[in-house]
Parts: sequence; C-alpha cells; structure tokens
Amino acid sequence: MNLLRTKSVEQSIRDTEEPAHRLRRALSALDLTVFGVGVIIGTGIFVLTGQVAREKAGPAVALSFILAAVVCGLAALCYAEFASTVPVAGSAYTFSYATIGEFPAWIIGWDLILEMALGAAVVSVGWSGYFASLLDDIGVTIPASLAAPPGEGGTVNVPAIALVVAVTALLVLGVKISSRVNAVVVAIKVAIVLLVIFAGLFFVKGANYEPYIPPSKPAEEGSGLTAPLMQELFGFTPANFGWLGIFAAIAIVFFAYIGFDIVATASEEARNPQRDIPIGLIGSLVITAVLYAAVSTVVAGMQHYTELSTAAPLADAFKSVGHPVFATIIDIGAVIGLTSVVLILLLGQSRIFFAMGRDGLMPPWLSAVHPRYGTPYRSTILMGAVVAILAGFIPLAKLAELVNIGTLFAFLVVSVAVVVLRRTRPDLPRAFRTPWVPAVPILSVLGCLFVMINLPVDTWLRFLAWMAIGTVIYGFYGYRHSRVGRAEDVSAKY
Ligand code: ALA
Repeated sequence: MNLLRTKSVEQSIRDTEEPAHRLRRALSALDLTVFGVGVIIGTGIFVLTGQVAREKAGPAVALSFILAAVVCGLAALCYAEFASTVPVAGSAYTFSYATIGEFPAWIIGWDLILEMALGAAVVSVGWSGYFASLLDDIGVTIPASLAAPPGEGGTVNVPAIALVVAVTALLVLGVKISSRVNAVVVAIKVAIVLLVIFAGLFFVKGANYEPYIPPSKPAEEGSGLTAPLMQELFGFTPANFGWLGIFAAIAIVFFAYIGFDIVATASEEARNPQRDIPIGLIGSLVITAVLYAAVSTVVAGMQHYTELSTAAPLADAFKSVGHPVFATIIDIGAVIGLTSVVLILLLGQSRIFFAMGRDGLMPPWLSAVHPRYGTPYRSTILMGAVVAILAGFIPLAKLAELVNIGTLFAFLVVSVAVVVLRRTRPDLPRAFRTPWVPAVPILSVLGCLFVMINLPVDTWLRFLAWMAIGTVIYGFYGYRHSRVGRAEDVSAKY
C-alpha cells in the first residue's frame, strides 16, 4: 500500500487547466482581503468575547485575542508560502497532497470539513439568535419551537436553515456575484465594529479594569472530560482566570480568527495568486487582530466582566450604559455580518470538496463545474444540505471547540509541510517565502499544539472519533479511486 504517494505540484497546476474543471480567475488582492475580513469577523467577536471575559479571562480578554493572533500569524506566514507556490483550490489539502502524501492530504481535507461545514453551522445558529432578537425589537416573535434545535427548547431552527439555503443559492450562481454582495456586507460589519470602539470609549470606566487579570479560581465544572487537556496532563487543579484562564480563553477565541486560511482556498480563482494571496492572508489577519483587541478592551471597560452578557455582549454593553438605539444598530450589523461569515465558510468548504473530487478521493461527479455559472454546483449543494440539517437540528455550542481543534490541526500540518517542501522541491518558484525557516514553522507548530492542549478532553475525543471515521472512508473509497493511484497502476503495467 502506498499511503504517501504524492501529486506533483506541476500536476496540481495542470489539473486546474482542464476545461471541465476550471474555475474562473476573477478575484483581486482587495477582493481576497475583503474575503478574509468577511469571514474572520463573526461569532468570535460578536458572541464569544462576553462569554470568555466572564468565565475565563476577565478584562484581560484582549490578551487572549492578541496571543491567538500571534499563533494565527505564524500559521499565516506558512500558508502564504504554500498558497503562492501551489495556487490551486483546496488549501491545506492540496498543499499536503503535493508534499507529505495522499493519506495525510485526505486527513487534512476531512479535517477542513470540520472547520468549514461545522463552522458554518455554528455561525448560522448564532445568526438565528440575533435574527430572532431583532424581530423581537419590532414586535415579531418566532415561536421557540421553530427557532432552536431539539435539546435547547425547540424542534427545528428554521431561520438557520433558511440562511444556509439562501447562501448556498448565491454560491451556485457564481463567486463574482457573491463576492460583490459580500464586499458590501463586510463594509457594514467593519463600520459596526468601529462604532463599538469609538462610541464605547466614552463609557469606559477605569474601575472595570481592576484587577486586569483576576486571580485564578478553581473551575466549577470540576475536572475530567470538560477540563482543558493541559490542566489534566500537568496535574493542575482545573481553574479559570489567572494565566491558566487566559490560556483556556485563547483556545476559544481562536474561533474568532478562523477563516483567514480560506483566502488560500480561493487561490485558484485569484487573478495573480503569487502576489495577491499573501496580501489577502496577512492583511486580513492584521486588520482583525487590531480591531479585536480594541473592541474587547472597550467592552470590558464599559461593563464589569462579571456582568457582560454571553449572548450579545457588544449590544448589551450599550444597553447597560443606557443607549438601546446603539444596541439595535449593532444587532442589525451582527445579523448582516454573520451572513457573510456563513457565505465564505461554505464557499471554502465547497472548493475543498471540489478539489478532493477532482483527485478522485471523492466521487468525481461532485467536482464537475456548472456549464453556465462556472461553479462546482454539485458539491456546493450537497454541503449546503448537510450544513442546513446540522444548523437546524443539532445544538452546537460545544461543537465550536471541535471546529477549533480541527483548524489548529490543519495549521500544524501546513507548518510542517512548508519545511518538507523546501527540502523536497527547493527548485519551485516561491513568490512569497516564509521568513526564518525553520524557526517560524517550528514556532507555528508549537503555538498550535499549545492552543490545542488548552481545549477540553472531550473535544479531543470527538476530534479523534471524526478522524477515525475519515480514515475508514479513505480505506474504502479514496484509496481505490484516487487519480494519482490509478495512474501509478497503469504505469506499473507497462
Ligand atoms: N471567525 C469566524 C467567526 O468568528 C468564524 O465567526
């Protein structure tokens, strides 16, 4: 068995030139940065800030955002080199196929499904909460049974399903249309974030920052499966606040940065991938890191961290200082903004599926491009359906952590792969080179591992189960149908 067969970089690029499998090259550096910012700013800052400040980090939540950005930045430097060297759809999946081998590539593709499909489902559910609260402001109430999944007081989450269906339709119609819609949405979202920062500044009270890092407290939920792996491994009493709390918070607010890597998945559709992808990746990360640190600092200064709301902290901070109109504006911005996150997550997902189908690791009919719209419509519709069902029927709070662990794992593999490709293919032209190799990739691996071990034990178990299922599917389908594998069989006969 050859689990480490690789697909050459040249072959990857040639595949994108087959007419039946060609995506349109329509995106500029600015489109890509907007793409990145569009998917990055979302549930992370709009929802998780309050939860994490209240339960784990206190007013120091901005430190968690900054440390998470450092880990993402290291990974982004590695992504940028890969994306500029192998500019084809599929992101970490394609990169690892060209370097480490087919089985690890499959594992990564399978893992990215976790990031994007599950991420899209999580954000859709968050969106539906804001949507319901907005309707409530104008006196319309959605019955609870139609606005929440079973287990959380409802039967089905209809708004979340409707959102996923609408977004899927946009994506089938073509990336250029949807990225234009997206640009407007991103502008609104950034304006809302700036509004929170500048209007909120007037209400900040110094006393709310004391103590900036609250002293560590034993976690109420106790030890065992819900404690971070690190605290279990090193025999700490599971605790919140203090530095352990800030670390645990990094593992959660990491969700707020998820998506910058999706800029890399669009490389096959970029006009000038060698230049534009690194700009898109690093640009969107820097912009959002600055915004997050500012927003979280302002919000933690407006309200004492013990009083921050966990459902809509940015809006509720304004309610707490007597400005409900600002709160409504923020609610509207969140509804619009979360829509764009779902849009880009689903786009990234459909492109990875597309790339895996083209390689024969998924049934090939999935990767055919629509003759009129030029989009991989079958994989888009299939994944849209799966995400709609997840968003409609499954309570997803805990699953956000699963999204994080999956993404961190992908970052880790890409960081290793940068070093591998420098050794195996030093000759390839690299429009963007990761600085200080191998120091940066090594730091990136260590950073990802550190954040991963700050996730709870039960999240690790779910992640391992998902990977085991993926391995079985590869054994029964992908290994036998792989295009690279079949080409090897043919050449072995002659
Ligand atoms: N980063 C995205 C969010 O925070 C996924 O919603």
